[in-house]
Amino acid sequence: MELRKPSKKLLGFASVLLALLSGCGPGIEEVDNEVEGKLGVMSQAIGYNGNDYLFVTTPKSWPEAQALCAISGYKLVTINDSNEESFLAQHESSFGQYNWWIGLNDRGIEGFFTWDGGASTYTNYYPSEPNNYNGAEDCVADRYRGDDGSTQSEQWNDWDCNRAFPFICERAPEPTTNRGSFSYTAANTANATVNVTGFAVHLRAGQVFTVGTCGVPGASRSGDTYLRVNNPYGQEVAANDDAGGACGFGSNISIVVAVSGTHTIRAGCYSSGSCNGTVAYNISD
Ligand code: BGC
Ligand code: CA
Repeated sequence: MELRKPSKKLLGFASVLLALLSGCGPGIEEVDNEVEGKLGVMSQAIGYNGNDYLFVTTPKSWPEAQALCAISGYKLVTINDSNEESFLAQHESSFGQYNWWIGLNDRGIEGFFTWDGGASTYTNYYPSEPNNYNGAEDCVADRYRGDDGSTQSEQWNDWDCNRAFPFICERAPEPTTNRGSFSYTAANTANATVNVTGFAVHLRAGQVFTVGTCGVPGASRSGDTYLRVNNPYGQEVAANDDAGGACGFGSNISIVVAVSGTHTIRAGCYSSGSCNGTVAYNISD
């Protein structure tokens, strides 16, 4: 993965996320409608294997999608292996959408495919693809569904780059190993809503905060963990049960911080089960 380091344009991006993350508590209702309008509807950043991903469900052309990812220092996703693919598939299907733009394209030289964000030799095309249909297909989308709906697949197809599809952005891992960690043992936490282990972290608006029992160096777990994060107003801004992919039942959250102040990590276990782990976190500069 050779993605660029995050740009410093995170404040605008944070306000985009505000629209999605905030329950509109005091002082956190400012939303940059212009930026939000440009980006369209997206998920909060989701962490996997140390990288951050955005699933943007508003359909855009491939060049527009590439430009919109770049606003926040992201590239269109590079898929490196089948574990990453299964992580993407899990989230794509949770949004119920097919044909998600990925970074792969041969817009430069016909038949010579490159990735927007780096290098990868992994491919997972639908049979007989890429076929450059009508000589006009240079951009690749994951989770192929044909226009008549007859074909539905987790595999890839090349399409006309002007087609409007949802898209996935990816950003490289932060350079640090981790900024801190704590261990916990828990039981009967009702999906990390009671009997949790709390841990305070000081965060500034615009920082990327990643926390996990998996997917952050130093993290580990036994059993089915569940993590939640509260903002300085005590409002929950993110939660994760299973990060999926290589993380399995481990948990991982990545957010762009919307409000400066003391946030609380709340560590528990799925349902009424028992679990334990080391929660590790990273904070971008
Ligand atoms: C072809 C695909 C092509 C699509 C474009 C399908 O019939 O099999 O390769 O990308 O049409 O609409
Ligand atoms: Ca095709």
